[in-house]
Amino acid sequence: MCGIVGYVGPRVATPMLIEGLKRLEYRGYDSAGIAMSNGHGLETRKAKGKISMLEGLVNGNPIHGSVGIAHTRWATHGKPNECNAHPQVDCTNTIAVVHNGIIENFSALRKMLQMQGHTFKSETDTEVLAHLIEAAFDGKLEDAVIDALALVEGTYGIAVLSSKDPDKIVCARKGSPLLIGLGEGEYFVASDAAAILQQTRQVVYLDDGEMGVLTKDGYEVLDLDARRVSKGVSRIDWSLDEIEKGGFDHFMLKEIFEQPQTIQNTMRGRLVVEEGFSKLGGLNLTKDELKAIDQIVITACGTSWHSGLIGELYTEELARIRCEVEYASEFRYRNPIVTDTTLCVVISQSGETADTLAAMREAKRRGAKTLGLVNVVGSTIAREDDGGIYLHAGPEIGVASTKAFTSQVAALALLTLKLARLRNMSVVKGREVAEAMLALPAQIQSILDHASEVEEIAERFKDATNFLYLGRGYQFPVALEGALKLKEISYIHAEGYPAAEMKHGPIALIDSEMPVVFIAPHDAVFDKVVSNIQEVKARGGKVICITSQEEPVLEGMIDHEIRVPQTIDMLYPILTVIPLQLLAYYIAVKRGLNVDQPRNLAKSVTVE
Ligand code: M6R
Repeated sequence: MCGIVGYVGPRVATPMLIEGLKRLEYRGYDSAGIAMSNGHGLETRKAKGKISMLEGLVNGNPIHGSVGIAHTRWATHGKPNECNAHPQVDCTNTIAVVHNGIIENFSALRKMLQMQGHTFKSETDTEVLAHLIEAAFDGKLEDAVIDALALVEGTYGIAVLSSKDPDKIVCARKGSPLLIGLGEGEYFVASDAAAILQQTRQVVYLDDGEMGVLTKDGYEVLDLDARRVSKGVSRIDWSLDEIEKGGFDHFMLKEIFEQPQTIQNTMRGRLVVEEGFSKLGGLNLTKDELKAIDQIVITACGTSWHSGLIGELYTEELARIRCEVEYASEFRYRNPIVTDTTLCVVISQSGETADTLAAMREAKRRGAKTLGLVNVVGSTIAREDDGGIYLHAGPEIGVASTKAFTSQVAALALLTLKLARLRNMSVVKGREVAEAMLALPAQIQSILDHASEVEEIAERFKDATNFLYLGRGYQFPVALEGALKLKEISYIHAEGYPAAEMKHGPIALIDSEMPVVFIAPHDAVFDKVVSNIQEVKARGGKVICITSQEEPVLEGMIDHEIRVPQTIDMLYPILTVIPLQLLAYYIAVKRGLNVDQPRNLAKSVTVE
């Protein structure tokens, strides 16, 4: 979603701000802008569309200065156009604001400000902030920001400039991530570490209710009563290579091909093969607390919710603990049954998804212990959970989640191993799981080595208008994930269904134009799925089958076959999802679409 970057220091700010915005492109946006305080008032440039448009504008009409803020906007209130792009300014062009989040009471505030004589130019909720700060300004920008924020309901990550208190950036956060980057005699503000990684690795994460005041002489963190808050400095470990394409055409393809390594990183140091056990240092739960858990609630959104469905099967089948998987957006507004022996597992690649964060807070409030399965180190969920398992998959830039999914499933398998071995799982069974997990990186590689076969299938079906994805047991969530990947980047309508449920409705869709992807490795329900394949074939559907070994029974029934190596039933999702990621990728590329930044989507959904 929207992105913020700001700089104060001795250097010329524009190139760094533009570079920072480019690093935020992956999050999804539709317009961009920059504002500078340079001793001659505030200068602003804004453009609809890509950062390159803004860059062109700035090249043609340079904007000078060394104190600036910049933004990528993902439209919520008002169309994507130049006027609605941020920074938003006040009546007198003395205050400039960039904002991530939503001001919920903006309509009432706007009316109030209009009655006081303020004139509005944009349709955004953000513009009220500029006018509120203008109205409250009395010489010190941070005081005006505090006064303005006292009137605001909603969520925000903001960065503010004033020409009347120049050489300063004030930033503040409530519900939308923000960090301060520390350089040598220079300071940055960003909503995402990727924006400033090229400049510094030392960061201070702001928490809700905190503000940063940055000048080239230093920074301080205050609460919204202007009291100083002492904060620790964290180091970002990502390398620059990890946020670059490294020779691949797209981040998504790079991330698909990274999976042998990323899954290895998720498991590193955590599997004790001999004992069939896992070591998870960050759970913050004693053995007795782990044994006392009598219910698990998994909450997440999108792809992370799909991995949660696999986690449900793991915990019930192997650890014999009751488990519910909830869309975070639903969970937060229900009256769920949660007790102090409930473990709430919160799954999120970004660690910033607004619904997931709110669901976690709600579970905590009701007395549950919370455990975050998060990829982004230092993200809000990772900082607020009671314990966690970092995925260690490295930055995921492609909007379509790929490597995070396989790492989430691996992390869930590690967690299950721990819970199950503390209960009823034998060491022999535990060893079997651990050994099968160790084989996964090489098995994923062997699937990737045959990516060209998936590309041929993509060529055949790139013009299809509908797809069905069918699977049973562990493969049903994979069917959902395959369908989600295809629809989000290729814009082809796709549905995932439990294979046997198809005959209760979706079978009506099947004709000779309909590609049906069966995810049918040789597992406990393979024979059942074969009957479902027959039902599709009998109606002329085109069958693409992901399976795991040569099967005479499939002869004549399937049109295209993709083979994955054999593993134990519970780990097949980590293998069968790889061809589905590739299929979605190649189809989208062949349709000429922007794979890494699909329309309407944002990488990290920080609004409700
Ligand atoms: O960062 P999170 O895992 O919390 O994100 C959840 C979803 O927004 C995300 O998985 C989304 O569905 C992806 N675009 C799927 O590819």
